Amino acid sequence: MSNKRAGVFVGSLRRGSYCKSIAKFVSSLAPNNFKMDMIDLSKLAMYNQDLDDDGNPPKEWTEFRAKVKPLDGCLFVTPEYNRSVPAVLKNALDVGSRPYGKNAWDGKAGGIISVSPGSLGAFGANHHLRQPMAFLNILMLQQPEAYIGNVASILNEKGEITSESTRQFLKNYMDAFVKWVDTISDMK
Ligand SMILES: Cc1cc2nc3c(=O)[nH]c(=O)nc-3n(C[C@H](O)[C@H](O)[C@H](O)COP(=O)(O)O)c2cc1C
Repeated sequence: MSNKRAGVFVGSLRRGSYCKSIAKFVSSLAPNNFKMDMIDLSKLAMYNQDLDDDGNPPKEWTEFRAKVKPLDGCLFVTPEYNRSVPAVLKNALDVGSRPYGKNAWDGKAGGIISVSPGSLGAFGANHHLRQPMAFLNILMLQQPEAYIGNVASILNEKGEITSESTRQFLKNYMDAFVKWVDTISDMK
């Protein structure tokens, strides 16, 4: 496997975010020749097409697009808000997709880990997030799926995963994700 790079996009800005803890753990599992970059979504203003049309997009949008463009893979770690995708993540997808014809996500390999303190594992967010992926042409890993439910019960106060079976599950997920990114990027 040659060197590859994936961005990690977390759909929560919360200080003590469970998703951030899971994202940190899975990032630590990547092999040496596979870089995982946590991409900050907190500075992205809500998408407004006027700013692109006027040729004056915020520098945070331009920087974000420039960070997404060279990635081989995108890993989305997200909670569920009202049975769907949090606005912060959908906004990031929209910002990266424009201006029209310059979709920064095009052709990348993708994966989703959805996370919830509830028992359904943010199933709704996981599957809603798959809908824009078809149009954005992010090629999604189908199996294994990753729904992390009851997350508060498997993290300690430092945000470390205490459940050995969850650690192993996420290790298996990451092995599949790394292989998927490798396969898709080598097809180009
Ligand atoms: C606006 C809002 C809507 C929410 N809707 C859901 C939901 O539909 N399903 C769910 O499992 N949790 C829902 N929650 C609870 C979140 O799963 C919980 O706040 C979780 O900790 C967010 O992830 P984080 O810890 O990474 O910030 C909602 C939380 C907020 C703030």
